[in-house]
Amino acid sequence: KNVAIIMGGYSSEYQISLTSGNVVYSFLDKSKYNAYRIHIFRDKWVMVDDNNTEYSVNRHDFTVAYQGNTLSFDVVFNAIHGTPGEDGLMQAYFELLGIPQTSCDYYQAALTFNKRDLLSVLKPYGIKTATSYYLNLGDTIDTATIIKTVGLPCFVKPNKSGSSFGISKVKTEAELLPAIENAYKEDNEIIIESFLDGTEVSVGVINYKGEIKVLPITEIVSENDFFDYEAKYLGKSQEITPARIAPELTEKVNAVAKRAYEVLKMKGFSRSEFIIVNGEPHMLEMNTIPGLTTESILPQQAREAGISLPNLFDNAITLALK
Ligand code: DAL
Ligand code: MG
Repeated sequence: KNVAIIMGGYSSEYQISLTSGNVVYSFLDKSKYNAYRIHIFRDKWVMVDDNNTEYSVNRHDFTVAYQGNTLSFDVVFNAIHGTPGEDGLMQAYFELLGIPQTSCDYYQAALTFNKRDLLSVLKPYGIKTATSYYLNLGDTIDTATIIKTVGLPCFVKPNKSGSSFGISKVKTEAELLPAIENAYKEDNEIIIESFLDGTEVSVGVINYKGEIKVLPITEIVSENDFFDYEAKYLGKSQEITPARIAPELTEKVNAVAKRAYEVLKMKGFSRSEFIIVNGEPHMLEMNTIPGLTTESILPQQAREAGISLPNLFDNAITLALK
């Protein structure tokens, strides 16, 4: 089977995606799959061979003219964080072309990539969230009302982005406007959330061999003010798997994470973030193309569950091809 590993993307997360994609490429079982790396950038879509020679992708049918042949793909392994890989665009494209893919479907991708909409959909199912306030570019910004709604400190986030790009923790009213301006650099919608004082956990849920499986929970202990970019990627945090929480609480978090996966009719990978406040998990977001580097959280969780990286990737492709 020919596997196209798509990586890169158009967002601030492209570099992280290249790392994820290259990890998938190097750990994929080569006795079973012919793996190809495809870079998806705004200005070019190219297949990159082991000599780093680039071959253009024909966007009409997602094929590549390569060594005198037309190379086509049986399945796509999506390793693009952010747009257009995590927000439904690539999903819809491959669905139209009839090429199976490892990620969830386009609707679930678009919905989960939009923090505001995801949380609004899950709330009536009893999934708790922070108190929030939304802004769209051009809206009047009434800082007093925002602070009256969400309190201080609060978090200002781009509604659609990842890896904490554009996120600020705001402690004073004076910090609010600059934080909003900073978030608008990433997205034209903003979500402002109350600070949840509790234990942060990250919960991977995947379809493993046809069953929904919650992986061991990871507890996040950030050395920084919150789990920001530096904490995530430059070692300024501890990620403890399994989380040091009571068994009953583990069960509760597992149940909530699994419920969200089921309610949304998810497929493939997911990793949701929660803050546990007084024994109640509050959902922050869900990532459908979670980081897949050897150091990333979901691979750590899989390892803890006895699932090696080749096994994890093979499972994703096998399910996509079903
Ligand atoms: N958005 C990053 C890659 C993650 O969720 O792991
Ligand atoms: Mg995220």
